[in-house]
Amino acid sequence: MKADATKQTPFLTDVQTLRKRARQHLEEGAITAGYGADRQTVIKLLNDALATEVVCVLRYKRHYFMSQGINAQSIAAEFLEHANEEQAHADQIAARIVQLGGEPDFSPDGLSSRSHSEYVEGGTLVDMIKEDLVAERIAIDSYRELITYLGDQDPTTRRLMEQILAVEEEHADDLVDLLQDHPHLASHPGDRKGV
Ligand SMILES: [Fe+2]
Ligand SMILES: [Fe+2]
Repeated sequence: MKADATKQTPFLTDVQTLRKRARQHLEEGAITAGYGADRQTVIKLLNDALATEVVCVLRYKRHYFMSQGINAQSIAAEFLEHANEEQAHADQIAARIVQLGGEPDFSPDGLSSRSHSEYVEGGTLVDMIKEDLVAERIAIDSYRELITYLGDQDPTTRRLMEQILAVEEEHADDLVDLLQDHPHLASHPGDRKGV
């Protein structure tokens, strides 16, 4: 048994090799040889998700400021809460892109075409709520696809996107509740904003 052991590569050498490899790829940070995903593709997909979140922040902010009215306070508060949560998602996604060795794309050029969801201003409160609901449903579908794509290859990014997906589903739920809680909004599509 002792003879066999001497034929094998001594354990210490293995440790040294591991350490050497780790030093050789220091610039890759958290990304080790065991990272299974196509990193550039993941970064590209995360940048699309980042654009989606930024467009959602802008749309919810617009809706928040345009829904200041005597009957709109609870709706405006919901828009603001969603805007802040979309901003937090954008920050989390940008941080993950950097961790993967990429660069977060915050450029306003082409922002709306990179985004999955659209920026729609909406003429009335009910239009705004419906447009937000459409945007959330688009985000939900695209994030679900991203999670499926990641599979077991990048569990950290997948976990992040699963957490964000759960919040987008809550947002969609909140918007459905708003429509149900304010049926008078839907029956008067010609109403002015904030009415
Ligand atoms: Fe979000
Ligand atoms: Fe959302």
